[in-house]
Amino acid sequence: MVDVNKKKINICVLVSGNGTNLQSIIDYEKAGKLNSGKIVLVCSNKSKAFGLKRAEDNNIRTCVFNSEIELIDVLRSHDIDVLVLAGFLKILTPEFIDNFKNPIINIHPSLIPSFCGKGSYGIHVHEQALERGVKYTGATVHYVNEIPDGGEIISQKVVPVLEDDTPATLQKRVMKEAEWIILPEAVESVSKKILLSK
Ligand code: GRF
Repeated sequence: MVDVNKKKINICVLVSGNGTNLQSIIDYEKAGKLNSGKIVLVCSNKSKAFGLKRAEDNNIRTCVFNSEIELIDVLRSHDIDVLVLAGFLKILTPEFIDNFKNPIINIHPSLIPSFCGKGSYGIHVHEQALERGVKYTGATVHYVNEIPDGGEIISQKVVPVLEDDTPATLQKRVMKEAEWIILPEAVESVSKKILLSK
């Protein structure tokens, strides 16, 4: 039964760097497409993360945390229903995942199960894809469980690898043509599922 008083669920986004994936969700929300959730908080383990500035520029509350205990407290105090990892580079412990209890989703810059798991993050993922010589790569949104990049896949989008690609040009294309598209859509679909389950 949908709680009519709670039109939208509370979303918290975790960032560690530039925050372009966060920006894609902010833009999606500003375009009026985020019908089931609202970004109420952006947190980072890095006080200089540019993603925090993107949040502040859009009047979204921010926080910097130094431990998982601090993070759990701030998520609880803001009644967060779903946690979105968007360019967040720390591996959350099984204890944290168990403690938080609500869904956690992550964007990974490859077609899982290729080029994922421990050590496969950021630009390294694209270096591995070029090294292997794949003709297609892409991005994956998945639920987070205790296995790094091992949770249930929510959505994926394919991107071609070009002859003259470098890790940097490939990363940019995967972000532009895959990550920034499927992440906001997945945030809406997961938020809708949570809202309908309330
Ligand atoms: C992106 O490729 C993301 O998939 C990876 O980190 C990169 C930077 O993301 N996890 P952002 O610009 O900080 O969102």
